[in-house]
Amino acid sequence: TTKIIMDTDPGIDDAAAIAVAINNPEIELELISTVAGNVTVDKTTKNAMKLVKFFNANVPVAGGAEQPLIKPFEDAARVHGESGMPGYDFGPEPTDIPVNNAVDTLYKTIMANEEPIVLVPTGSYTNVALLLKEHPDVKSKIEKVVAMGGSIGMGNMTSAAEFNVFTDPHAAEILYKSGVPIVMVGLDVTMKALLTQKTLDTIKTLGKPGEMLGAIFSHYYEGHEGGIPMHDVNTLAYLLKPEMYQTTPYWIDVVTEGPAIGETVADIRGAYHNEKTNAEVCVNIDADAFNEWFIDEVKKMKA
Ligand code: BDR
Ligand code: CA
Repeated sequence: TTKIIMDTDPGIDDAAAIAVAINNPEIELELISTVAGNVTVDKTTKNAMKLVKFFNANVPVAGGAEQPLIKPFEDAARVHGESGMPGYDFGPEPTDIPVNNAVDTLYKTIMANEEPIVLVPTGSYTNVALLLKEHPDVKSKIEKVVAMGGSIGMGNMTSAAEFNVFTDPHAAEILYKSGVPIVMVGLDVTMKALLTQKTLDTIKTLGKPGEMLGAIFSHYYEGHEGGIPMHDVNTLAYLLKPEMYQTTPYWIDVVTEGPAIGETVADIRGAYHNEKTNAEVCVNIDADAFNEWFIDEVKKMKA
């Protein structure tokens, strides 16, 4: 089994990633920390708590950064709905929402583990950057960071920038300069990992979890010809079935100002960074295998 921590901003595709992490027996989800992103952090924290409760799971939730490090916050409620997880009734709103304990809880959880842990950010990297800056000794206890975000091609926020990196480019820069092993799961694969209409129809028939996912997916305003992109789910798919992905090592620099702010620039020529690399970048995916894999994951879910 693989021990992981998810740092997330649910978010419809985040919710699907959390659902896989909670229910797959090969994954031990030690902690969910939350960050402002798709919606504000009070909402992403509540959404994480709702999912834990929905699946009767025993996973602690820690509330994290309300704002990016430097850049003013802009949400993506137009894509994920006002609540971040619309279209399904999760029952009464959670109370006792944890506030501002993510960095501390991340640090304690990682250090308490004997073996290094895999960190899986699927929102902007504000908490992760604060953790690395405030507690550099944590680095030796992180096996790798499997991060959704970035693109070595087109962006989805601007032509240059992907949403998670665009939201907090300064945090992304800290992560990419940290020396921690990184797998970049960016738009280069996530825009190919589209759930087809056929897959969506199948999922809806798969019990209460399938019904819930089907309901929130139908409110996802990121439709594309061929299906809906399951960005964040690719982090779990990569961990559980890496053979679906093709990766290439590159040095990734993050643009932190100007019109290309939030762009992740791969040193494709290799010359600028003398062939040094800081990330294993996912460059291609078998989309049919991804659809089949996701259906199998939903079949494993219990609520
Ligand atoms: C990323 O942006 C968010 O809206 C999604 O949840 C995903 O993490 C994709 O660019
Ligand atoms: Ca996300």
